[in-house]
Parts: sequence; C-alpha cells; structure tokens
Amino acid sequence: MDLRHRPGPDAAAYTRRHPATLPATMTTRDLEPGIVTDFGSRMTYGEYLDLPRLLGAQHPRSRAADGRASHDEMLFIIQHQTSELWMKLLIHELKAAIVHVRADTLAASFKVLARAKLIQRQLFEQWAVVETLTPSEFDAFRPSLAQSSGFQSAQYRAIEFLLGNKNAAMLALFRHDAAVHGELEALLHAPSLYDEFLRHLARRGLPVPRDVLARDVTQPWRRHPDLVPVFKTIYDDPAHWWDAYDMCEKLVDVEESFQLWRFRHLKAVERIIGHKPGTGGSSGASFLKAALDCVFFPELTDVRAVIGAPVPRP
Ligand code: HEM
Repeated sequence: MDLRHRPGPDAAAYTRRHPATLPATMTTRDLEPGIVTDFGSRMTYGEYLDLPRLLGAQHPRSRAADGRASHDEMLFIIQHQTSELWMKLLIHELKAAIVHVRADTLAASFKVLARAKLIQRQLFEQWAVVETLTPSEFDAFRPSLAQSSGFQSAQYRAIEFLLGNKNAAMLALFRHDAAVHGELEALLHAPSLYDEFLRHLARRGLPVPRDVLARDVTQPWRRHPDLVPVFKTIYDDPAHWWDAYDMCEKLVDVEESFQLWRFRHLKAVERIIGHKPGTGGSSGASFLKAALDCVFFPELTDVRAVIGAPVPRP
C-alpha cells in the first residue's frame, strides 16, 4: 500500500502501527540510470540558455548606509528584465503574424496571435509581484535609477509600432544607439499588423477605402468611419467571413490585453509613487493615464455599435 495516497488521520494511525513499511526518506528521488551526469564534453542547460550571462545581469545600484544594496531593488530589476524577455517574444510573434497576413494565410496567424495573447497575459499578470513593493521600499533605491525609465523601453515602442501606434517623436529617445534607432525607424516605416489586415481584406474584395490602402504608414492611425461598414459586413455574416471575423476578434484580444497592461502599470505606479513625477521626466500617473485613450483598432470597437442595424444606404 502506498501511504502517500492515504490521506488524513487514517494514514497517521497506519504509520504509527507499521513504521517499518515507510521508506527511510521521502524527500529525495533516485537518479535513473539513463540520466546524463557527465557534461565535460556536452552542452549543458546553462550553456544552451546562456544562463551565466542572463543570471549575471542583475546589478542593483543602490547603497544604503551599511554599503549594501536595497533588498527590494532585485525585484524591480528582475520584473523589468522578465518583462523585456516576454516583450522580445511578443515582438517575434507579432512579426510572424504580419508575415502570415501579408501572405493571406490568416489561419497560420491565428496560432501565433493566440500565443501572443497568452504572452500579454504573462506581462500584465506580473504586476501583482511588483505591487508588493511599498512606497518606502521603492524610495530606498529610486535615486539609483537616475533618469532611466520604462519610457525608454525600445521593445515597448516596437510593439506599439507593430500594432500601428506610430509616433516618430519617440525615435528621439534612441538617437544615442544607432542599432536600436535603426530597428525602430524600420518598424515606423513598415505597415502595421492592422495595415496588413486591411490590405488583405481589400484583396478579398471588401471595399477598404483607397486612402487607407495608400496611407503614409509612418503616421499614427486615424479613425476611418468608412471602415465600419467593411467590418459590419464581416460581423453580420461570420459564417461567410469566418477567418476574417476570427482575425478581427484576435486583434480585439491583443488590444484589450495591451490596455490591461497599461491599466495595471498605472495602478501599480499610483500605489507606489502616487502622483510624483516619473524618473523619465513625465508628470507620472497622469501621463500614463492619458495612454489609456490611445487605441489601436478603433473601428473594431465602432462596428460593435452598428451590429444588427441596417446598412446605411449612400
Ligand atoms: C515601481 C514600479 C514602477 C514605477 C513607479 C513606474 C513608473 C513609471 C512612470 C512614472 C512612467 C512614465 C514615464 C516617466 O516619466 O518615467 C513609466 C513609464 C513606463 N514604464 Fe514604468 N514603472 C514601474 C515599473 C515598470 C515595469 C516593471 C515595467 C516593465 C517593463 C515598466 C515599463 C514602463 C513602460 C514601457 C513605460 C512607458 C509607458 C508609456 O509610454 O505609456 N514600468 N513608468
């Protein structure tokens, strides 16, 4: 009989009566013979993942009177680093989705965008960890951040650009780094996921306005009322437009998840620094609150108001 499967007082009584039937230790597991232990000439887990570099990249800068770094600075650093890693994967997936949509293989992009949504969930659920940082704990190491701020996250800006929230003014922050500046500039000049989807819909015969197709993609997206009837056609007959309909909903997922990240960031900021200005020089929480009004795919919200209504005749 395996005692570990006998719950509660029954198991305790059995143990007292039959101590010899218990294994000597229940906290270790024997290595199986097939398990590899000699890594003298084999690639290790740590090498594959470049762990010495990854795990050696946390450098708290604060120094208290006793010369030691603040205990909580490690959380702050790791929370940012893990966010940047998830953002790296999100960029990888969004770029793949764009390639699929450009090739009119929407179904392939769904797999990718389903993953993107879950990555975004990791990103916004992480806020719970940083929210364990109290205002005084943060204050103990905040001076060591100097003017650095998440506002200078190139990857965050890349995600915004990939989703169509273009803002050439943001490039100024990266003038000091030619490689990063070049990557963001290329994304600024490339069609966003939304641009590519609208081009795809036009190729399928839907009446996407010509000025939308020929728009200057370096400019931020501007709400276009003539797209609403295009989306209404799709939403009014999902069975006929199934993959386009699915794509619309995937875009809504991505946008909602992005907004949830913004909102949770704002709430974390409010509870940690209140209305203090940011280290990056902004007014802080009120500046972040304004970002909640930045939308990626406004017509996908607008169409919801006309679903079920008759199509207006010109
Ligand atoms: C103690 C925790 C945090 C505080 C108090 C905080 C505060 C702020 C503030 C005040 C800003 C506005 C820009 C400025 O003036 O600095 C900002 C922007 C930003 N932060 Fe944080 N932040 C925190 C954690 C994080 C984390 C963990 C990330 C993850 C990468 C992050 C990413 C960003 C990004 C991407 C922006 C730009 C947002 C935008 O453009 O709207 N922040 N942060």
